[in-house]
Amino acid sequence: MKALILSGGKGTRLRPLTYTGAKQLVPVANKPILWYGIEAIVEAGITDIGIIISPETGPEIQEKTGDGARFGARITYIPQDQPLGLAHAVKVAQPFLQDSPFVMYLGDNLIQDPLGDFLSYFQAQALDALILLRAVSNPSAFGVAEVDPQGRVLALVEKPQNPPSNLALVGLYFFSPEIHQAIAQIQPSPRGELEITDAIQALIDAEKAVEAQQLAGWWLDTGKKDDLLEANRIILDTLLAPDKQGRVDDQSQIIGRVKIHPSAEIINSSIRGPVIIGADCRIVNAFIGPYTSVADGVAIEEADLEHSVILQGAQIIGVQQRLVDSVIGQRAKLTVTPRQPAALRFLVGDDSQIEFSPRRF
Ligand code: TTP
Repeated sequence: MKALILSGGKGTRLRPLTYTGAKQLVPVANKPILWYGIEAIVEAGITDIGIIISPETGPEIQEKTGDGARFGARITYIPQDQPLGLAHAVKVAQPFLQDSPFVMYLGDNLIQDPLGDFLSYFQAQALDALILLRAVSNPSAFGVAEVDPQGRVLALVEKPQNPPSNLALVGLYFFSPEIHQAIAQIQPSPRGELEITDAIQALIDAEKAVEAQQLAGWWLDTGKKDDLLEANRIILDTLLAPDKQGRVDDQSQIIGRVKIHPSAEIINSSIRGPVIIGADCRIVNAFIGPYTSVADGVAIEEADLEHSVILQGAQIIGVQQRLVDSVIGQRAKLTVTPRQPAALRFLVGDDSQIEFSPRRF
């Protein structure tokens, strides 16, 4: 059994962060999203992992993630020149996959359920495809499945206007090598991509064994800002082990589940967990509220924030209104001087979003 993680793509929905970095490396609780997937795969006993990468972000993914040794796995990087669809990625990976069955995992997805039980079922039933489903309120935004009461998949449609059910396809699939034949038969969809849903539909049409199971736990597709914040909230809520290190002065208050890196410095500040603070951060005269992740090398001074993800090297200085529901990119600077500025001055990149909310906290 092998694994294929898809970590190429364009990431248009997470711009501007994805102009300069891979969305799969955006941290959730200070760990790249992609690594959660790798760890889940290794936990299920699969250690031969291929990762699809794009020419733009592949080198960064490769450099950060390495050869797999840190995960107890062997990682093979597979370049995909253009993001021509999930099924196209499988096609490109065929020399790596050969005749092995495999699990396919979308590198920007986070899935709570362990993979082990699904894998055992897929193997015990000798299926050609096992897909995972989750009921959602907006099925038109996803691939959607029509399933009979026995769990057999009758049909799949990609982003349908009139969805046949509310069951969305989660970014986790198990395939036998039959999938390669199916992919060889399909044509690009109207949006120009080789769709994995079309390939699975081809398996169904050929009367191959295709089944679905529903996830029990949460599933997040972190490709959008709000989902990313939600993933951060859930991971901090469920997985954060408190570890109050760092240089914390007597004027500071640390409440609840908080993890602080030993090299971080906290001066005259309040931190209310769940919160994680990375290496070499400097937090001065600040309040950091629940569900906030602060990556390495961040400076937060004279500022007040919660429910946010702050990426490496960002600076937030003098922002007295509470900053909420925010994602601040690497090395971004948010500075307000003096306390009541007469004018606001910005250098804002393409596709940035800045909101001044009238709501009071
Ligand atoms: P998507 O989120 O569906 O696509 P995308 O990354 O292009 O994002 P957006 O819609 O915001 O432009 O892709 C799901 C995962 O699969 C993601 O980790 C990227 C990866 N992927 C590939 O590796 N190759 C591809 O051809 C495509 C379409 C996606």
